[in-house]
Amino acid sequence: MNNQPVRYKILSILKENNQIFTSGEEISKTFNLSRTAIWKHIQELKKEGYEIFSVPKKGYQIQKSPDVLTEEEVSRYLKTTDFARDYCYYVSLGSTNTIAKQIAESSNAPEGTVIVAEEQTEGKGRMGRQWVSLKNKGIYMSIITRPKIPINRAPQITLMLATVVARFISNHYHVPAKIKWPNDILIHQKKVCGILVEMSSDLDSIHYAILGIGINLNQTAGELNMIENQHYMPTSIRNETDIVVNRRVCFANLLLELERAYQAFIENGFTAFKDLWEEYAYSIGKEITVHTHSSIIQGTLLGITDQGALSLVGKDGETQVIYSGEIVL
Ligand code: BTN
Repeated sequence: MNNQPVRYKILSILKENNQIFTSGEEISKTFNLSRTAIWKHIQELKKEGYEIFSVPKKGYQIQKSPDVLTEEEVSRYLKTTDFARDYCYYVSLGSTNTIAKQIAESSNAPEGTVIVAEEQTEGKGRMGRQWVSLKNKGIYMSIITRPKIPINRAPQITLMLATVVARFISNHYHVPAKIKWPNDILIHQKKVCGILVEMSSDLDSIHYAILGIGINLNQTAGELNMIENQHYMPTSIRNETDIVVNRRVCFANLLLELERAYQAFIENGFTAFKDLWEEYAYSIGKEITVHTHSSIIQGTLLGITDQGALSLVGKDGETQVIYSGEIVL
């Protein structure tokens, strides 16, 4: 997270001196720029949502920072070592997963490169579905990884991510977040998070895996009601708890848990997550219906296998193991 634009360097100075005014002259000397140039940078910062007092003969003083996920705002909370070392921030874009794939294919982007957007105009879900991504309301991010694992273990990545996000939401916001296999996180049966892992591979190895995660944080009930054509009822942390989430802090904390879990998964496999997955799973011990590509299966959910397949027992007492599909509510 280097090569900051000048306006963010100016911002750092204002933040360090937030109790006092910093004169335009002092800033212009520091950066060897004219005072008009400094003024223009300040206007840019104001456009981004920073509240900055400008008083003639005194200078500038920062009052408030916006809750945005710029490198500048997020970096002071981040404690990761690999995740987000390379960071691509967009105010608005189609889909972070699409950009992440382009970056992964066209460059040697290191593992852990994060692409984040305040808004997605073409946010993608599984099975060609849409992920509605309202501006400045949630976290919409993709992480480029290059996992050195056998290809048949790839579906476990989604399960590991779902486990981390469900635990994170439950622990930080004290709501019962549940995993709906394979890739949804629900609170009170409404969807708060979706995960979309997209890969490029050959027969032997994974070239890259894009870990796409969308979480609804601060959408209000009214905003959620306007989301149409969904296969699920959406919710947000705010809608469930009345907490207005500090997105920067949430993002940084989540990224740290994701990094640790990803490293543990690469080293120790899914077995390390199996019990935790079952702890947060939706409907363990209950009757569920699963749609696979070829059939509809009903049964009581027993748990998950070491490989990450769903284990069900049917009315006939037979145990079935399902490797791909979707639980329907
Ligand atoms: C699903 O519900 O099926 C998965 C939704 C995944 C949404 C996230 S938001 C960030 C990333 N970019 C996308 O276009 N999709 C994922």
